[in-house]
Amino acid sequence: MALLEIRDISKSFGGIRALDQITFSVEEGEIFGLMGANGAGKTTLFAVIAGQIRPGSGQVLLRGECITGLRPDRICRRGISRTFQIVRPFGGVTALENATISALYGSDSPPSRKGATEAAAVALEAVGLGAQKDRPASELTLSGQKRLEIARALSTGAGAILLDEVMAGLTPPEVDEMIATLRGLRHDRKLTFILVEHVMSALMTLSDRVLAMDRGRMVALGVPDEISRNKDVLKAYFG
Ligand SMILES: Nc1ncnc2c1ncn2[C@@H]1O[C@H](COP(=O)(O)OP(=O)(O)OP(=O)(O)O)[C@@H](O)[C@H]1O
Ligand SMILES: [Mg+2]
Repeated sequence: MALLEIRDISKSFGGIRALDQITFSVEEGEIFGLMGANGAGKTTLFAVIAGQIRPGSGQVLLRGECITGLRPDRICRRGISRTFQIVRPFGGVTALENATISALYGSDSPPSRKGATEAAAVALEAVGLGAQKDRPASELTLSGQKRLEIARALSTGAGAILLDEVMAGLTPPEVDEMIATLRGLRHDRKLTFILVEHVMSALMTLSDRVLAMDRGRMVALGVPDEISRNKDVLKAYFG
């Protein structure tokens, strides 16, 4: 059974059809890439999966169970967590405190503060922020703040992580480091990722399969090689 199944999801904002009958599934342990020009609906799809937005129609299933319309905290506790395109840490507090808050949020039963702090420290170490855990989040570089977003998602204990443009704005060496970090996380923690990325080389190297979207619709779904040669994808993406 697929870990996650997106079944015929549509969502309109006024006259804009942000998502139009999106259907695909993601296997456990897969890195699933989502590409599409600005406004394609990628972030909206993440918001639907994570429960921040209710779809107009369609279903999201987690291990065969319908989670459509559940509150974001409930979905997080069932094991789906996301990062945000615009990083939004609590700037005044440290990286460790930021990740601790996420650990508390993701926990089913009231966890001990100590347990949450430990989970947070492990997550920060896993994304390479171990040495900076006591720095205020606002003092981290952009790359550090993107890593903190990932650490916060990991701290919740979720096994499926939705990453919204964690490489945007990074330098090429930082992108390479991020690719290595994500590969390591999948390998060490058996995580499943859905990855939205405009950095095409990164998306294509990391993903097992890629879904190309355009103005809310599915254009093509396949392995990276197929997608990068697909005529409809090239037309939608590069004009
Ligand atoms: N809360 C909202 N209210 C109204 N329209 C919205 C809302 N959120 C998204 N949209 C519209 O839905 C469409 C899809 O937006 P979305 O942010 O999902 O695209 P995206 O693929 O993430 O784009 P980008 O690559 O720029 O991040 C756009 O036309 C956008 O303007
Ligand atoms: Mg977006």
